[in-house]
Amino acid sequence: MSESIQQLILDTLEAHSSIADTRSLVIPGDSHPATSHDAQLAVLGALNSLLSREMIIYETHEVISHVLTAEGAQIATEGSHEARVWSVLPLPGQGTPVTPAQLKKEVGDETAKVGQGRAFKNGWIGKDGDGLVKKVAEINDTTQLELKEVQETGTLSTGEKILADLRKRKLITQKKGQWFTVKKGSSFSTSIAKPETDLTVEMLTSGSWKTSTYKKYNFEAEGIPTSGGGLHPLLKVREEIRSIFLEMGFAEMPTQSFVESGFWCFDALFVPQQHPARELQDTFYLSDPSHALPPDEAYYKRVSTVHEKGGYGSTGYRAPWQPEESSKLLLRTHTTASSAHMLYKLAAKCRGEAEGESDSNEFTHGGAATNSTNEQLGSKGDDDGFRPAKLFSIDRVFRNETMDATHLAEFHQVEGVVADRDLTLADLIGFMRVFFSKMGIEQVRFKPAYNPYTEPSLEIFAFHPMLNKWVEVGNSGMFRPEMLEPMGFPKGVRVHGWGLGLERPTMIRYGISNIRTLVGHKTSIEGVENSPAVMF
Ligand code: PHE
Repeated sequence: MSESIQQLILDTLEAHSSIADTRSLVIPGDSHPATSHDAQLAVLGALNSLLSREMIIYETHEVISHVLTAEGAQIATEGSHEARVWSVLPLPGQGTPVTPAQLKKEVGDETAKVGQGRAFKNGWIGKDGDGLVKKVAEINDTTQLELKEVQETGTLSTGEKILADLRKRKLITQKKGQWFTVKKGSSFSTSIAKPETDLTVEMLTSGSWKTSTYKKYNFEAEGIPTSGGGLHPLLKVREEIRSIFLEMGFAEMPTQSFVESGFWCFDALFVPQQHPARELQDTFYLSDPSHALPPDEAYYKRVSTVHEKGGYGSTGYRAPWQPEESSKLLLRTHTTASSAHMLYKLAAKCRGEAEGESDSNEFTHGGAATNSTNEQLGSKGDDDGFRPAKLFSIDRVFRNETMDATHLAEFHQVEGVVADRDLTLADLIGFMRVFFSKMGIEQVRFKPAYNPYTEPSLEIFAFHPMLNKWVEVGNSGMFRPEMLEPMGFPKGVRVHGWGLGLERPTMIRYGISNIRTLVGHKTSIEGVENSPAVMF
């Protein structure tokens, strides 16, 4: 329907260059101009779809029009009450006159009552004994004709007086209507091309995109109703791991700074300035701003010295220290950069700084659990300011990697750090066994590895029953004195840590083989919603 009206509008514009009043259009299939309320509504639909393609422009005009009431509509099709009364009566001498009781039976109470009076007034019927008969052989049912005209045109050519009368008789009501003036738009054409909704490779290579018409965005569109929500698998697994840490008495580290300096991401961790991880192909550097303000001067000096010349029992790297390398801003490549910040704060009292700096209110959760550990060890006589801590974080890191099915340039790391006096490698291994078993991983193995900031370092392997093999799940170690002592930790304090990815365990758990179905614009919302793991 709308398409044939659209075509009519375009053809009329082509012939007359404008349409002064859309009520003059004769809609295909109709015999009279589109003056009715409903006809103009249909015209409006067609106008809007042509407007969205810039084929036309139009102006709206308001008008009062009339529509039939239910009773009016019945009269328009079946005739007026008086006409119906007249039609059931015989002409005089041609049949038995109809009694009022018979008439009621024949046409119904209402029609008999209203129709009789009017028919008498019109001179259409008369009395014959106790009954009624026709007085004329033919009638002109003007009410029916008038209502038919209103139905088709929204008004009456005979004028306002009769309209007012029909209104009074509740056969018609007034309604605000619209009509339109139409002109050609910037993309006017007489043929309606289906507008493109997508830019395809074919359109780009053939060049047809230049001449195609495009469907406009409809910002008012309501969108498809969603059937319900579900936590993204990564968020879900993150919550699970978070609660394992909290259960074990860990406090959460603030990790909101994605941007770090070379100093905090590498130097403070005793990563040599020439280390390959610091190169452009592994790390994203910032161009603006490109450099950080220097950290605390004394600490900076201790760090640069342990790198260049050694100290704390270490020979250092014996390579020239470059302040430039240290101040470069970058996207953190591991959350151990945040751990370094927190450990430096934790050592504040050991450095003789004010307590506030290192206060555990920095930790967003689990402070109480940390304090209980403090009490156990707090009885030591000579207070060197050290307080044990168990910290964790789960947040995003960035690496300039070639992306494939299992690697993205940004991903999440889970990291745990424990600081206490006289910790041993056995404590680290014990912690990780408990941690992984809470994650449902009972079989873990450790393999010696190398990290610039930990010694010894251990890679963590877990047995994967589905893959039926050992897979690497994390990395860990005891932080080096070259990292801890410049921060101010007393000699007997040991800090160990471990880190693992969040994506890999999530993919295994959800049976996802391509990381892009988990993260990024190709994530299948349906897949997430339908995943049984999301329901719990
Ligand atoms: N930062 C290490 C990584 O990115 C993980 C780790 C954290 C290792 C803490 C040892 C100690 O893989």
